[in-house]
Amino acid sequence: MKLIFASNNAYKLREFRSAVGSKMEIISLAEAGIQKEIPEPFDTLKENAKIKAQTIHQLSGGENCFSEDTGLEVDALGGEPGVHSARYAGEPVSAENNIRKLLRALADSTNRRARFITLICLILEGREYFFEGRCEGQILRSPAGTEGFGYDPVFLPDGSHKSFAELNAEEKNKFSHRRKAADLLIAYLKTRLIQ
Ligand code: IMP
Repeated sequence: MKLIFASNNAYKLREFRSAVGSKMEIISLAEAGIQKEIPEPFDTLKENAKIKAQTIHQLSGGENCFSEDTGLEVDALGGEPGVHSARYAGEPVSAENNIRKLLRALADSTNRRARFITLICLILEGREYFFEGRCEGQILRSPAGTEGFGYDPVFLPDGSHKSFAELNAEEKNKFSHRRKAADLLIAYLKTRLIQ
């Protein structure tokens, strides 16, 4: 089966493709011939995931598709940057600037507890379904590693002695919020389509 993923983020595509294996084909927006910056105008991950999936569903002429929105929730910052994670340090979007702002905001706080939350919205045969995955961990005091993207260099998942950016995609997937949400998506699809 084939699903359009409402993103061109190469890292996210790799993580999803590694999660689903050969069970289904995941098509990026570019591969689906869709050239559009999809807005994320809402204050919740769920609403943003939903508008992205609905937009792609419309633009593709009703194809099955899914989207995801992810945020990093930091306890000592009252849950920020959360849904604002992508543009935390403003425009243009820069992972380095986001990390710098986050480390400054936390300063020498001893409470480094944080979690990634991924919301997936699937539109299958015109109906919407939501799946959530979480990864608990801590914000490091300085970046470590060069793999991955976004906040990976400063996120230490519980149960690992390496940051996300020190793990390859397969290793990250043992802990990843996105992988957990993807597993729920796949389990659901199995009950519906993959027999
Ligand atoms: P979005 O879901 O692409 O809007 O991501 C929101 C923000 O979180 C962006 O700054 C991403 O770079 C970051 N982000 C999303 N997923 C991850 C991840 O798995 N690791 C690190 N940063 C992430």
